[in-house]
Amino acid sequence: MPRNIMWLLNLLKMKKGKKVVVLTGAGISAESGIATFRDSGGLWEGHDVMEVASPEGWEKNPNLVLDFYNQRRKQAITAQPNAGHLALKELEKYFDVTVITQNVDNLHEKAGSSKVIHLHGELFKARSSVDENLIYDIDGWEIKPGETCEKGSQLRPHIVWFGEMVPMMERAIEETQQADIFLIVGTSLLVYPAAGLINYVDPSIAKYIIDIKAPEMGINDPYLRFIEAKAGEGLPKLIRELVDEHHV
Ligand code: APR
Repeated sequence: MPRNIMWLLNLLKMKKGKKVVVLTGAGISAESGIATFRDSGGLWEGHDVMEVASPEGWEKNPNLVLDFYNQRRKQAITAQPNAGHLALKELEKYFDVTVITQNVDNLHEKAGSSKVIHLHGELFKARSSVDENLIYDIDGWEIKPGETCEKGSQLRPHIVWFGEMVPMMERAIEETQQADIFLIVGTSLLVYPAAGLINYVDPSIAKYIIDIKAPEMGINDPYLRFIEAKAGEGLPKLIRELVDEHHV
């Protein structure tokens, strides 16, 4: 690439500030009243994941799957972003921020985050069950049996189920590789490929984990700092620290 173009791109990058990439999980939405998956009383307790969140479950009993997601949508529709989501919006004043979320709720969008990549789909969208490119906003909280796409097939939740490909993973990896600072907030880091994003982070950049308990993977990286806190408390504090540290 010609040197003057490289110079211009670097100048633009400096102007936009450092790039912060944030991987979030269910823990960031817990204080907004949305259940996590694996904490005690988590969503998967009482449900057989394969019955309600897999293509096989959909084939076997689509109405059970529709009802499972309708109940989650009914509960999430009134949820409001908490101080953790709002802190990530605030961060955009000082840094170039990309949020990569495993969550299917729309709380990052409600908080105003402008760059959100949903790895596991979006609860408030429906999609054709024969053409994955046909995606529709859901008005309200229900997808009803008999509601079809323009090709006449039953609408399904626009969710990445267990065993399905994660279409946004490539984009997430690209963003992660460009990060100057990497945050991990409220995820057990147990589900792949999402959890594997940590392997694409430049080992020499600052990484932070905010969680109410230490991650199972252990913390033996001198550039990785674990902050034991709720997202709604830990994130606002960390944002202030990053702003001071980077004099932005
Ligand atoms: N603040 C910060 N962290 C929290 C809070 C909180 N208030 N409450 C819980 N946590 C932490 C838990 O300690 C745990 O590490 O959030 C994490 C939640 O982990 P999971 O329930 O496993 O959720 P997540 O990591 O997002 O699951 C990943 O698994 O079932 C699939 O598709 C589903 O996207 C989901 C994926």
